Amino acid sequence: MNPIELEQQYLVHAYARSPMALDNGHGVWLQDTEGNSYLDLVAGIAVNALGYGDPELAEVIRERASKPYHFSNLYHSEPMARLAARLVEATPFADRVHFQNSGTESTEAAMKFARKWARENYGEGKTNIVAFSGAFHGRTMGALAATPRPKYQDPFKPLMPGVRLAEFNDPASAAAAIDDSVCAVIVEPVQGEGGVHPASNEFMIALRELTHRHNALLILDEVQCGVGRTGTFWAHEPYGILPDILCAAKPLAVGLPIGAVLVTNRVAEVIRPGDHGTTFAGGPFVTAVADVVVRRISDPDFLQQVRNTGAYFKERLEEINSPHIQEVRGRGLMLGVQLDIPAIPLVQAGYQKGMLLLNAGPDVLRLIPPLIITPAEVDIAIDRLSALLSEAA
Ligand SMILES: Cc1ncc(COP(=O)(O)O)c(C=O)c1O
Repeated sequence: MNPIELEQQYLVHAYARSPMALDNGHGVWLQDTEGNSYLDLVAGIAVNALGYGDPELAEVIRERASKPYHFSNLYHSEPMARLAARLVEATPFADRVHFQNSGTESTEAAMKFARKWARENYGEGKTNIVAFSGAFHGRTMGALAATPRPKYQDPFKPLMPGVRLAEFNDPASAAAAIDDSVCAVIVEPVQGEGGVHPASNEFMIALRELTHRHNALLILDEVQCGVGRTGTFWAHEPYGILPDILCAAKPLAVGLPIGAVLVTNRVAEVIRPGDHGTTFAGGPFVTAVADVVVRRISDPDFLQQVRNTGAYFKERLEEINSPHIQEVRGRGLMLGVQLDIPAIPLVQAGYQKGMLLLNAGPDVLRLIPPLIITPAEVDIAIDRLSALLSEAA
């Protein structure tokens, strides 16, 4: 059975899939069904942080596979409780966590929590949420309303009301949007889909001050940039500010579906049984895997290695002698190469060079490899990228 032909016939064509069917992998390398090998600089869109074929993950999956993988949130289970403790211990601002199944559900839950928190504390009328240009918070109706891109929003209007937009990295624009009717501000410390744009220190500090001044919550969406990706466990750590809510997902269980919303006690205390929930979230199989992932990635030596390899990757990208590179930006292993040519043809040409690449918008190459990539593998990536750029028109 040819998976590409079957996909053409039987799947809803909601994705522009690449022309190969991936099958297996080891370390930072993936193989397709034809036996071709690819250096993976995508990591399943910032998910496969520990690469492929990790023996400890295989072991925990084997161990859990013979036990039930679902009990329901009607009952307690040890892996969920252990992961909750581990996540909260790794997150200085947080007191509690609520599990979800995906990134969009995490941002959705965060917005619901913020509205309930404001209603309980300040009464009716404090329901507005401020989001920013270039943001991506997910595709469900609440998250979509905070993801201001016509291509994503227009076919599905009307949007959830109560979302205001301001300019990313513009404190004055944020100040104009944030008033006492606002219950929360949601922002990515490093915008991923929007083109790999780190928030400036000034902007993040202004958001914390403005949210304090107007009794609003600060929600950080670390679905893409969190869990070690930028070289600190959370991407907001270098800014020296603490949020009220943080959303995480993608790499938490390195490919099994999970999301997590970390909150302070003052947020948690307004959420009561029945307020919000979902069938699968926090199941024993996925949380047992996530527990290993969080323990491994929060290790200071692991994070140091991400910083070192990320700095080396950035330096080597800056050395590439191509007139098409306008800027290299990002932190840790979340890097963006701003081009003066379209990125998608390069992504496609990358397959012939044995490399998986991703764009972020029309003219940015986004490099988000597994966090275990070595300097020697970065060298291979640089050789292949240099060749690709030298052949670009
Ligand atoms: C910052 C951010 N938030 C939310 C999401 C949505 O996550 P999911 O695709 O798991 O729903 C994404 C996905 O790319 C993201 O990058």
